[in-house]
Amino acid sequence: MSATPITKLPAASTGTGDSRQEEPEGNALLTLDHVTKAFTGKDGSPLEILHPTTLNIGHGERIAIVGPSGSGKSTLLSLLGTLDMPTSGTLRYDGENVAAMGERRRSELRAERIGFVFQQFHLIATVSALENVMTGLQYTDLPRRERRERAAEALEQVGLGERLHHRPSQLSGGEQQRVAIARALAKQPDIIFADEPTGALDTDTGHAIIELLLRAADQGASLVVVTHDPNIAARFPRRLHIQDGMVTELDEGGVRHA
Ligand SMILES: Nc1ncnc2c1ncn2[C@@H]1O[C@H](COP(=O)(O)OP(=O)(O)OP(=O)(O)O)[C@@H](O)[C@H]1O
Ligand SMILES: [Mg+2]
Repeated sequence: MSATPITKLPAASTGTGDSRQEEPEGNALLTLDHVTKAFTGKDGSPLEILHPTTLNIGHGERIAIVGPSGSGKSTLLSLLGTLDMPTSGTLRYDGENVAAMGERRRSELRAERIGFVFQQFHLIATVSALENVMTGLQYTDLPRRERRERAAEALEQVGLGERLHHRPSQLSGGEQQRVAIARALAKQPDIIFADEPTGALDTDTGHAIIELLLRAADQGASLVVVTHDPNIAARFPRRLHIQDGMVTELDEGGVRHA
């Protein structure tokens, strides 16, 4: 037993309480150390959209990000997913400083280890579900046959084993989002980022999509979902709230903590 309880560490960190105490950051998949993001305002001066943010995301952790429109949720997700770079501070992925990686290494990281799911599905309209999922693997060096097998397995996993050859227009919105989730899962990613994945779906379909993401993450991936829906956020063991670029942790009762 450790003498000092550490309550804010990722729930899914491996090891005993003692080892967590020694190397909490070493166990995290993503660490942010005073990370900020600024854009150039209309008058040309810098506008800080994300204020200094320090947090860890553990392996296998499930996190919901909530907050009003324009508060910085997608901005934070882009930084976490290495799609955009911090203006200041340090972002580490598995201990490696993302700013020091170079764009090529970052694209490899995204292609091979990070899954993305968006509100508008972002599927290719002219090809089948199977080929859409295979595009998620196109930058890996897996042979085509294996990409095809993995894609079919991922579609099976999201309940679309009977729809491999349907095009997006032949699928419902919920099914299209399942294809997008299968595309993320086929990589067997370290982490899945989903920005309002239920935003274009009705309530019941949206909830089914969240349950699917949570189940998929059971296989070991971390999961970070942006949502406006408090009922969806309540399904996540950890919730972050953003308002005007300030990130706080919500406790079980929904109270904010700095
Ligand atoms: N590339 C950019 N250049 C300038 N300002 C930007 C840029 N991207 C985002 N912003 C601004 O940053 C703020 C946060 O935007 P962001 O998209 O992160 O909000 P959000 O919380 O995801 O909102 P929503 O719930 O509407 O999706 C907004 O004021 C937005 O206008
Ligand atoms: Mg957004």
